[in-house]
Amino acid sequence: MDNIINIAIDGPAGSGKSTVAKIIAKKLNITYLDTGSMYRAFTYYALNNDIKSNDKEGINDLLNSIDLVLDKENVFVNDKDVTKEIRFENIDKNVSDYAAIKEVREKMVNIQREISKGKSVIMDGRDIGSVVLPNAKFKFYLDASSEERAKRRYLQNIERGKEIPYEDILRDIELRDELDKTREVDPLVICEDAVVVDTSDMNIDDVVEFIINKVSR
Ligand code: DC
Repeated sequence: MDNIINIAIDGPAGSGKSTVAKIIAKKLNITYLDTGSMYRAFTYYALNNDIKSNDKEGINDLLNSIDLVLDKENVFVNDKDVTKEIRFENIDKNVSDYAAIKEVREKMVNIQREISKGKSVIMDGRDIGSVVLPNAKFKFYLDASSEERAKRRYLQNIERGKEIPYEDILRDIELRDELDKTREVDPLVICEDAVVVDTSDMNIDDVVEFIINKVSR
């Protein structure tokens, strides 16, 4: 048990959490969990079934019928591979509304805790240090200016062959930050015991090295 390393990485959209966490997981040979992909998958399922975020009964039905499987980098909803679809713009725009629902969060947090039971994990999200793994030995909060995060998203989209105007991305990111930080249930907060890393002027390798250094000390 003593050898278990739990690393919580929280922060706003586009702060580089997932990219960094994935690399660290490989380097340390531990399990990586992208918790945002779970809220995205639920949002995909809700939109596909035409269930609005204020439809309590509909949401409960979805929670009872969803079979969510994370297999390495792929995400499956009721056996359908939705890895690509959960990154589409309609998910970006709606995910904060579904992620704010108490019952949705309870289900996702339970799955996340189950996955982390008895093994070393690195998880990224918004409530990892505060709710999912409050006893994690290492907690980091990655941040960057909204302009820098929007620029990264813009370039990431170009790499994927999509051109979404920078201004639109910036507006979406700022709106999502606001919703994620001000929601009633498990909002994005900076934990008192988290190390805050402003990645605005750092590249991915710098951030990875910084975290690995802290963890291996
Ligand atoms: O990290 P991401 O952009 O893939 O996350 C998508 C959304 O899911 C984000 O707007 C907030 C929500 N989320 C959350 O509420 N809690 C988490 N642990 C992870 C993501």
